[in-house]
Amino acid sequence: MTSTVKPQPVIDKPLLHYGRRDLNRTAPGTPETEYRILSVSPLAPHIGAEIGGVDLTQPITEELADELRQALLEWKVIFFRDQHGFESSHHVDLAAVWGHPEANPFFPKAETAGVSRLAKDSMAIGTENIWHSDHSFMAAPALGSVLRSVEVPPAGGDTMWADMAVAYDNLSDEVKERIEGLTAVHDWVPSWGAMMTEEQIAQMRPRLPQVEHPVVVRHPRTGRRTLYVNEPFTTRIVGVSEEESRELVDHLTLQARVPEYQVRFRWQPDSIVIWDNIATQHYAISDYFPQRRVMERIAVAGVPLS
Ligand code: SIN
Repeated sequence: MTSTVKPQPVIDKPLLHYGRRDLNRTAPGTPETEYRILSVSPLAPHIGAEIGGVDLTQPITEELADELRQALLEWKVIFFRDQHGFESSHHVDLAAVWGHPEANPFFPKAETAGVSRLAKDSMAIGTENIWHSDHSFMAAPALGSVLRSVEVPPAGGDTMWADMAVAYDNLSDEVKERIEGLTAVHDWVPSWGAMMTEEQIAQMRPRLPQVEHPVVVRHPRTGRRTLYVNEPFTTRIVGVSEEESRELVDHLTLQARVPEYQVRFRWQPDSIVIWDNIATQHYAISDYFPQRRVMERIAVAGVPLS
């Protein structure tokens, strides 16, 4: 008689469960910063703070740049309101606080170097309404992004961010053990490629081959362990069976959907948001069509992850 024992699932823990989660904003032992210029108003206890006390159309001093960098490391997403008169040149200067500007290779070509304009209305459906980390399909994924609202719908069009260090902290010990030391393949073809012809894909491929990143990265600035697997771009885990890879990728990508790990921002005209693209994933909510939403974005070029 053949055995009827069902194979054990790799992961038997349900995603959403009642009870406490560990929501550490920074790695344990990290000292609190005293800001001299910025005021910091948290939107959630561990991720996302609205920043006051700064006019981003004025020259950025070294002291201000230091505080902005520190605030982003501590809060992972920082929000600014009413930055009237903020133009592309201010946008480039602000992104330069963190590094070199980098445009998304799939966005329309920018008029100002690095600044991508994303105009969405009933003719252009959302492509960012999936939890993702920008440019993870690149060998050196973007460190962060600076997004400015130019035109916002009367309601809707919010963006959400999820804290992927907290997501890692809350994985079960069993899953942490399974993913320790593993790497994953990231590829743009299943997502961006789905909107391109075979010829266009073949033309782009030599510039953007498949890449591998650790499943759990050390954040390049804080060293904190952070889950680095996202739905559109992570295609498989290396060195495990296809079934185990699928099950792990499904489980790990679902973590961004846990509400306790998230913060949500309601845009107004002339809002600016800067996010740490390694520590977080984001999701742009596409609920406003046929209203229009126009944003401008600069990514900050990254470093290889380890
Ligand atoms: C993005 O995914 O980079 C854009 C986010 C947004 O439009 O809110």
